[in-house]
Amino acid sequence: MKKTYVLGNWKSNKTVEEARAWIDTFHTTYTNPAPDTIVIVCPQFIHLPLFTATTFPAAIGAQNISAFPTGAYTGEIAAASLTGLVSHVMIGHSERRTHCGETDSVVIQKVTRAQESGIIPVVCVSEIEQVKALADAVPEFSSKGGMLLYEPLSAIGTGQADSPERANAKAMEIAAIIGEAPILYGGSVVPENVHGFTAQSHISGVGVGGASLDATKFINVIRAAAQTV
Ligand code: PGA
Repeated sequence: MKKTYVLGNWKSNKTVEEARAWIDTFHTTYTNPAPDTIVIVCPQFIHLPLFTATTFPAAIGAQNISAFPTGAYTGEIAAASLTGLVSHVMIGHSERRTHCGETDSVVIQKVTRAQESGIIPVVCVSEIEQVKALADAVPEFSSKGGMLLYEPLSAIGTGQADSPERANAKAMEIAAIIGEAPILYGGSVVPENVHGFTAQSHISGVGVGGASLDATKFINVIRAAAQTV
């Protein structure tokens, strides 16, 4: 049976107190709806120790890492420094590509850094060309456990999710280039539409932005993804 991934991306949201409250609610309310459902929460770096200080019942990811190794790179957070704090890291989210000038070559360096440190890269793509650049530069991406998050730009934060069928067709196209890597869909995923995506043949889960900020709503996304509601 295929695994279903639900990745929550908090982006640059929440104070430490708000993060604590979210974690408390999640702890009190959440039970894994199915053993093959894998939940990954990606908060800001400053919140990561709050999660590991508890026995948090889901995986934790970062939203970014440095393209450089450990060393004299002031202000950067090296992949190796995240060892033990996170199991996954998002790389190349479209907001980073747009606002921080992240190119395919930077994305590829970050993928290499993550894989060197045993952290699973979740590479975000919105164009097939980005997948081709990744596959050409890192042919072992899939065999080393990498994951892809496909997010059409028109669907991110707009309330206008793609159609599950169109997203699945895109996931098939991506799979033909990248191989076995799980492919997630992201963009305006909510409890009401999530199962349409997770039911598709080539979609292995979802990335959730806005709907992950409220713990109860996020739990509803997870349950609906696993079709237990
Ligand atoms: P959204 O964001 O769910 O708020 O559309 C998704 C994302 O950017 O990962």
